[in-house]
Amino acid sequence: MTTTDGLSTITIRSFLTPGDERTLADDVLDGLTRPFKELPPKHFYDTRGAQLFDAICELPEYYPTRTERSILVSRAAEIAQATRASEVVELGSGTAEKTRILLAALAAAGTLRRYIPVDVTESMVVRVADELTGLFDDLEVHGIVGDFERHLEHVPAPTDGPRVVAFLGGTIGNFTPGARRRFLRGIARLLRPGIDHLLLGTDLVKDPAVLEAAYNDRQGLTADFNRNVLRVLNRELHADFDPDAFEHVAFFDREHEWIEMRLRATSRQRVTIPGASDLVVDFAAREELRTEISAKFTHERLTADLDAAGLTLERTMTDDAGLFALSLSTRPLNLKVPSVE
Ligand code: SAH
Ligand code: AVI
Repeated sequence: MTTTDGLSTITIRSFLTPGDERTLADDVLDGLTRPFKELPPKHFYDTRGAQLFDAICELPEYYPTRTERSILVSRAAEIAQATRASEVVELGSGTAEKTRILLAALAAAGTLRRYIPVDVTESMVVRVADELTGLFDDLEVHGIVGDFERHLEHVPAPTDGPRVVAFLGGTIGNFTPGARRRFLRGIARLLRPGIDHLLLGTDLVKDPAVLEAAYNDRQGLTADFNRNVLRVLNRELHADFDPDAFEHVAFFDREHEWIEMRLRATSRQRVTIPGASDLVVDFAAREELRTEISAKFTHERLTADLDAAGLTLERTMTDDAGLFALSLSTRPLNLKVPSVE
């Protein structure tokens, strides 16, 4: 779909097909037949899940969003100057609330031409395209509705000027360590050596009490977000989960330095999932299903991951309390992206 309004153009391409229910079914079949049950976090984000995540971002306990925003507010002009970017590709763009700060700095520097949001939630991509073309004159928006783990090849080739690939919010932490490096290698392929940058948001290791409070909010929004994945399975795969029969669990795993979210069956449960090969899943009382990890970073972890993807850290920007980091990295001219999986 392409629409033109004055000098702004919106193009939205969806790469999610009805067959994509298969990937949900495959993830369920794979994850719920393991000895330790697990589901990947990307299935939280239907329209309700996306709204719940937005509400989480406003919670007093959930510091990452406001902290990353504050870093952007104070450093956006510097990022604009360092990158001279004419386009921003944003992975997992969501509402692109914070991205607007960067786009405004690039517009003020006179370099901004195009914004390419990539997200699984179609309604978000459409909304963001409308809002941003309304905010920035002459902005071209090329939205991609798709899975950033499978559809990066559909990101259009860069135009004349430099590109920034933004991956904000600490979403990189939602990958397991191996998948994280593989994903960073995929991102590196979107960057031209010596020209383009990755702008990466990473949540930092800190006092476990602060971390655990951020994932156990008093209003129970994170619990609701966590259970939302069960509602997605009920709707998409005709499963018969009783979301109220699962309690929210979130704790900081000190060994791995990640937050782990789980759903714990409050009693014995048998669930049938017709859309996943008629799978029948038994949960023992108090059995847990892992729904998300959210890795926290140290400087060493960040540089090691970037290194493994053939990327070089250029600068790290943090808030005064050292809660969150934004970093700019590049692909050096003489280094190939490692292709070994
Ligand atoms: N960047 C925003 C949103 C972060 S929430 C911020 O910083 O606040 C994570 C976002 O990634 C959601 O919008 C979700 O829909 C999207 N997402 C999660 N898994 C995805 C996947 N596999 N492919 C594309 N988008 C994904
Ligand atoms: C999107 N992602 C970075 C969030 C996080 O903090 O890992 C998702 C989230 N899970 C619970 N609260 C927020």
